[in-house]
Amino acid sequence: MKLWGGRFKQGESKLMEDFNSSLPFDKKLYYQDIIGSIAHVKMLCKCSILKDEEEKAIVNGLKSILQDIESGSLSIQGEYEDIHSFVEINLIQRIGDVGKKLHTARSRNDQVALDMRLYAKHKAIEIIDAVDILLKNIKNLAHKNPVIMPGYTHLQRAQVITFKHHMMAYYSMFYRDKKRLENALCILNENPLGCCALAGTTYETDRNFTTEQLGFKKPVDNFLDGVSDRDYIIELISNFSISMMHLSRLSEELILWSTKEFDFIEISDSFSTGSSIMPQKRNPDAAELIRGKCGRVYGDLISLLTTMKGLPLAYNKDMQEDKEPFFDASDTFLKCIIIMTQMLEGLKIKEHNMYNAVKKGFLNATEAADYLVNKGVAFRDAHGIIGSIVMYCEEKNKAIEELYLEELQEFSYKFQDDIYEFIDYKSTLKKGAKKNLL
Ligand code: ARG
Repeated sequence: MKLWGGRFKQGESKLMEDFNSSLPFDKKLYYQDIIGSIAHVKMLCKCSILKDEEEKAIVNGLKSILQDIESGSLSIQGEYEDIHSFVEINLIQRIGDVGKKLHTARSRNDQVALDMRLYAKHKAIEIIDAVDILLKNIKNLAHKNPVIMPGYTHLQRAQVITFKHHMMAYYSMFYRDKKRLENALCILNENPLGCCALAGTTYETDRNFTTEQLGFKKPVDNFLDGVSDRDYIIELISNFSISMMHLSRLSEELILWSTKEFDFIEISDSFSTGSSIMPQKRNPDAAELIRGKCGRVYGDLISLLTTMKGLPLAYNKDMQEDKEPFFDASDTFLKCIIIMTQMLEGLKIKEHNMYNAVKKGFLNATEAADYLVNKGVAFRDAHGIIGSIVMYCEEKNKAIEELYLEELQEFSYKFQDDIYEFIDYKSTLKKGAKKNLL
């Protein structure tokens, strides 16, 4: 069933009908489509384009469709081109000819642009709320665990840090993600309804009225842009991609830390899986899947950027391809945030193992150089002296703090008894700018 056909002699091929139909995926937009239509009809009545009783009949018809879809008595399926045709044809079947007036002064081009904006807004808000809960959980976990651990560069033990500071790095990353999402939400908050196909309408419509009814900040400035702008979808998926990259980096660390080689944490049973053959295995599947799904969200972004790159103004059917990537990216991202949030809740921190790893890595070598600098040695010379001490320690299988003062003094007469307190792992964190790590 179609909304058009008057100028065609022959029917569409079945193959083409299937190829053209977006109903299997754009049925997700039923709510936005119906509330958009209700606002449109109210506007038409306010502008005396429809009569009061016509408005009432159409609005009631639309509300009954919404109710039936939500109660499950009307399922969105059948041979309709898209969700817009499904709702309009259903309306006409329910209320008769007056339903045919719904599409006055509107095109499916501004209709679909509106539906997607409303859906994107709703999804962005849901996602921002989920990121907020993730942020809260990260902060909780960090503040409960100000324990020392090795910090890494090049994945080699580098300097002492705290688990708290490590986790708060992720807090900063996800906090930026939240701000990016809020910014995207603010930019997209404009109403494309009323642009019609591409050139507005001869009717005296009121775009400010629908803008207010639907909760937008303002109507879009330009009709051509209004119907063909998909920047906000690209921007959101791009924000999801950046945030998925952050989730993936965190997942990678959880995976590494839960290996026997690191053994810094234990991921709870609820987010681990076993092996069908190796009875001892405990696999970090949740973290691996988040890392894996990151590629999928990047794919959604590249797919839509590619779809849009060569399109002339204004609407082109290519744009129907915006939906599946956006639905997939937003659902995937949301699921990953929720899984990560819950996985962090049950995380067990192995403080003792982290401390032992600190002891083995010469993680106070930089501080030992700082000690010599405080005693008047130039940093580059101090760096050389400590380098030789590390080599000596490796031969003796000892840590710097395990050397006798006489041994240290073989390398520099500047070493005194206070060196041991200065390079103590915990006390290094109380000095200077390092206090931020606590
Ligand atoms: N299903 C279409 C889409 O998602 C709706 C808009 C159709 N417009 C048109 N001129 N055929 O883009």
